[in-house]
Amino acid sequence: MAKTRVHVRCAACGRTEPKWVGQCPQCRAWGTMLEHASAPAAAVPASNGAPARPARPVAEVPPDEHARAATGIGELDRVLGGGLVPGSVTLLGGEPGAGKSTLLLQAADALARCGRRVLYLSAEESAGQVRLRAERLATLEGGLLLACETELPAVLALVEEAAPDVLILDSIQTVSSPDASGIAGGSSQVRACAAALVNTAKARAMATLLVGHITKDGQLAGPRVLEHLVDTVCDLSGDRHHALRLLRATKNRFGPAGEVGCFEMAGDGLHDVPDAGRLFVGETPPGTTGVAVTVTLEGTRALACELQALTAGSQLANARRVASGLDGARLALLVAVLDRRADVALRDQDVYASTVGGVRLAEPAVDLALCLAIASSRGNRAVVPELVAVAEVGLAGELRLVAQTERRLGEAARLGFTDALLPHAYDGPGFGLRLHRARGVCEALDAGLRPCAG
Ligand code: TYD
Ligand code: MG
Repeated sequence: MAKTRVHVRCAACGRTEPKWVGQCPQCRAWGTMLEHASAPAAAVPASNGAPARPARPVAEVPPDEHARAATGIGELDRVLGGGLVPGSVTLLGGEPGAGKSTLLLQAADALARCGRRVLYLSAEESAGQVRLRAERLATLEGGLLLACETELPAVLALVEEAAPDVLILDSIQTVSSPDASGIAGGSSQVRACAAALVNTAKARAMATLLVGHITKDGQLAGPRVLEHLVDTVCDLSGDRHHALRLLRATKNRFGPAGEVGCFEMAGDGLHDVPDAGRLFVGETPPGTTGVAVTVTLEGTRALACELQALTAGSQLANARRVASGLDGARLALLVAVLDRRADVALRDQDVYASTVGGVRLAEPAVDLALCLAIASSRGNRAVVPELVAVAEVGLAGELRLVAQTERRLGEAARLGFTDALLPHAYDGPGFGLRLHRARGVCEALDAGLRPCAG
């Protein structure tokens, strides 16, 4: 007979340890390790060993035809790869206030208007609150079903009763299952609820959209517990103080990952921005120092983005390097490269760098534009007007060609830029742009910065 073992388990993240410890080694929470008895044999469901279906040659397996349901929201469909696949589970993450509930209510309404049965389950707000938002978004007429539940069995019973084609649950962290331990929103709870919903979605071929909150340290619904369970993970981000929102697919089993959708938050909800154009390029007067433009790739989309830098004499022993929308470590590295390889004296300078419009850039392709902006501010020399810089900068100060430079130049030309600063190795078309090729960062600064204003 299987022996019952006693161990301790963290109520927050579900980590088990053979002995009691004060602090959970996984999530670092104090005092959450509780004694827990388990029968190991019960963990693995009994099976008689017979396969459910014999193995078949791959050509004889009928293909899963993904009859996608377009949500009618162009940018959301673009990110999902054409629409919602029946039986798929999509997790929509984002910080509070990003607009997750707004986006899903709009999508729910659009789907309902196309004749789908849509159940919108709110576990966060009362039905009255959701109705108020629906009024604001003018989505009252669509005929979507609305309910409020926080208990998983009740949620599943509602699904059984309403038999929707699409289920929207806002949010997975506020639903709890009586069979799982820990508090609602804890890892074991979130995992148990999501697993049950995934099973239901697959069994009913019901497309499911789950809202997940991002925790303080940037994790989706606890330590990445959900990403493995679901088919698609999207992230809605944007600066609270800006109207622009970017929806990014970080995982997609039914379409391209990395695709980006652009939205603008207005008084009546989120609006598609099919052409971002120069939205991420600021409107600084010509001749302003410390600004440079690059073209970044997000999925299949090329976006012109402005980078701004400011250098100022530092009062500190260790000068500050402050990045907003950019990787701080990358900024520190590029400052060191400029200092050592291009004679831009930055050791005693505080360096601040940021993007425009609340966009986050993590691509190495932005390196050269960032270097240009910093050197421009330090040397008080403006960047050549209407120039885009596209290159990765190495530790030796060399410029490296980045993926799909051609696509980026094409977009720059379309948006009316006239000049491009590139690595020497580029031998593709110029799309009518004046191409300035440089071997290293030193040469690039010479080509990309205007002579000293004097
Ligand atoms: P919300 O969808 O509630 O965000 P989340 O569910 O991600 O927490 O909305 C976020 C913000 O958007 C909120 O501060 C109010 C604002 N908002 C608008 O500007 N216009 C609108 O039409 C709506 C519904 C919300
Ligand atoms: Mg919400």
